[in-house]
Amino acid sequence: MRGLLTLRTLSSPEIMEIIELAIRFKKGWTVNFPGKKMVNLFYENSTRTQYSFQMAMINLGITPVSFNLAGSSVAKGETLYDTVRTFESLGVDGVVIRHSQDVYYRDLETIKVPIFNGGDGSSDHPTQTLLDLMTIYEEFGRFEGLKIALIGDIAHSRVAHGNAEVMKRLGMKVYVSGPEQFSDDKTGEYIEMDKAVETCDIINLLRVQFERHKEQMNISKEEYHARYGMTVERVARMKKNAIIMHPAPINRGVEIASEVAECDCSRIYKQMENGVYVRMAVITLALQGKL
Ligand code: NCD
Repeated sequence: MRGLLTLRTLSSPEIMEIIELAIRFKKGWTVNFPGKKMVNLFYENSTRTQYSFQMAMINLGITPVSFNLAGSSVAKGETLYDTVRTFESLGVDGVVIRHSQDVYYRDLETIKVPIFNGGDGSSDHPTQTLLDLMTIYEEFGRFEGLKIALIGDIAHSRVAHGNAEVMKRLGMKVYVSGPEQFSDDKTGEYIEMDKAVETCDIINLLRVQFERHKEQMNISKEEYHARYGMTVERVARMKKNAIIMHPAPINRGVEIASEVAECDCSRIYKQMENGVYVRMAVITLALQGKL
């Protein structure tokens, strides 16, 4: 299959090549694909991933074809494969897919157009990982030796799972913290929240994935905020030069205090900006036959 389904099968130099290309786009380099068309197939809600893919297409001269899930034949029982195969027959040059099923792309092995994974279940979110890496690289100029703490609903987070695998490979030390109910010791070494705040270079907050829970969170949102939320008081105890990241959507007053979301050490809006450039980079490499 072509495109970008996971970073797990790419080498570190290949991942760096994507980040370097995204940085070139950010510096103003351009490339154009006139006549190309792509479609976003989002089976789950999304603001940033969906619309930054669309912005990336527009910046590259690609026409985005609109897809309205509610008005499509999905409601009539059409499978993911048949929907993707239909858009391939209609002549699109690439599809972006977000779906609640882990590794949904296993069913799409015979599809020939590039597929870009906009998030699969709790498994992976490769372009989010790339934009997180780009943001870290811009900040620190390296990955080796940096300490990152992933905070929150680790068990249900595709961002945590995707980020941890690649970040460890790039030489970063990955810690996890959050409610025991959502812990997952395969992702990283457990660290107390306050120790993470004082010792890590990057505090990567995660949204509690309520929509994936089979049972209710066993602490209140207020208690979550008191134990694991980034408060003004915790920001004051962060290491000099340390940064806060969050894939968003943010829940102000739960993972993060409202005042902290745009504080000097927050890179949340920069992550969104970088998302457009990494998506331009992966689309370009795929349309050039390199991904
Ligand atoms: C994440 C997602 O949907 O996987 N957000 C994103 O893509 N920017 C995380 C989340 O929804 O919490």
